[in-house]
Amino acid sequence: MEKDNKRGQWATNIGFLMAAVGSAIGLGNIWGFPYKMGANGGFIFLIIYLALVSFVGFATMLGELTLGRKYGMGVIGTYRKISKKYEWVGWLGWLSGFFILAFYSVLGGFTIRYFFGFLMELFSGGAGFGGMDSGAFFGSFIVSAPMNILFHALFMGATVLIVMGGISGGIEKFTSIAMPMLFVMMLIVVIRSVTLEGAFVGLEFMFKPDFEALKEIGLMRVLKTAAGQMFFSLSLGMGCMITYGSYLSKNENLEKNAMIIPIADTSFALLSALAVLPAVGAFIYQGVEGVSFGAGPGLLFVTLHRVFSVGMGGFMGNFFGAFFYFLVFIAAVTSAISLLEVCTAYFIDKRVEKGLEPNRKKITLIMGIIIFFLGFPVAMDGLGSGVAGGAMIDIPATVFGMSEVRVAFDCWLDFYDMISEGVFMPLGAMLMSLIIGWKLKTVLIKDEIEQTPGYKMKAYNFWDICFKFIVPAAMFFVLLGQLDDFFGLGIF
Ligand code: TRP
Repeated sequence: MEKDNKRGQWATNIGFLMAAVGSAIGLGNIWGFPYKMGANGGFIFLIIYLALVSFVGFATMLGELTLGRKYGMGVIGTYRKISKKYEWVGWLGWLSGFFILAFYSVLGGFTIRYFFGFLMELFSGGAGFGGMDSGAFFGSFIVSAPMNILFHALFMGATVLIVMGGISGGIEKFTSIAMPMLFVMMLIVVIRSVTLEGAFVGLEFMFKPDFEALKEIGLMRVLKTAAGQMFFSLSLGMGCMITYGSYLSKNENLEKNAMIIPIADTSFALLSALAVLPAVGAFIYQGVEGVSFGAGPGLLFVTLHRVFSVGMGGFMGNFFGAFFYFLVFIAAVTSAISLLEVCTAYFIDKRVEKGLEPNRKKITLIMGIIIFFLGFPVAMDGLGSGVAGGAMIDIPATVFGMSEVRVAFDCWLDFYDMISEGVFMPLGAMLMSLIIGWKLKTVLIKDEIEQTPGYKMKAYNFWDICFKFIVPAAMFFVLLGQLDDFFGLGIF
């Protein structure tokens, strides 16, 4: 396959789906979704989230995949082909890839560390986490720059190796094995979790419609959280799906694929919540100290570490600990490769356009090294612990002399996230949708979709309304929310 097209192509539609679903399912699902759902109104959050997937997620997915396949290029090439004056929209997406992967890989490194930790506990007993309890271990691990950089390097190395293998030979091959495995592993963890004594406490936290929380946080803010989470989780807004779509053949049904990916991702997010929250709830119920529904990095690393080591304890605890963090690692790698592919594709496209050999291996390696270094500040500031907290570096206390801006991010990770997920991505998605709806017109999407022999587009009017109005409005709203946070304007 890969021979007739120098850029590369998916060998099968199911292989493409594995890769795309693999991109979507990642830390966002396992880490972000459970606590955001719990903390933002439970069942109400879920309903809002599902509505957003339906009216914004599907259309944006369809738009990205279709533009990718139509123009057959990565994110920058695609926008340049639409019009020279939109090329910069592609650059926003491409740059986001660097920033997201830089922090994503540092966090991915954490999952490797924890996997090794439980593995060592399992076989040697007591050595995996230096004999420390979960909180103390996490605290000492995050401020250790050499350790963070070491595991960041391992994670990035794995990512680079897979992407070097190419579209069908690397990404498709790996995700075709990893994704079914991930799903089975997740089911096992869910079953273990919901059958723990007291699991209902977590289920209640998850599913109880919490109008009090909603009132306190405010509907607008909950909406913004849900929208940001959805975008990140579906890998939208930066051209990941444009890039993956560009390797699709005309035989594949875009409209169907654009529905399957979000449905699979959302189902997995729910499964993740069912794996994490009931386990946490069970040990709150059983009175294990230091276990709570608290949010952020603490949930995935401190709380769950405790759930396995103290709550379950013994062989079972270490076994499920190793099993779980391996699962999270696999989910994170299949996402990281899609981010690296966005960065890599630009140079491959350029070379192929000039009639040169793509040189995938070399370009991938160089991109990987750049992103590795870009991750250094994230790996060195102890997630905001700063020098005072024992880390190697601080994040500047003021930005261009504006100290209030610091309110929006208290570590380098937040800052990278803010640039990419906070600004570039909603802006990119808004512009893409406006370009499709008003400039190219939805008919163009229809034409491309109907390139699939014998296929007629099913929901033209729905997509048209999404592209023209709903997606741009939702994204404008998210952007406004970001600016509000960033400058502390107090709009929401
Ligand atoms: N979707 C992945 C997750 O949930 C992360 C990810 C991969 C991503 N590619 C992306 C996020 C592109 C935004 C854009 O963890």
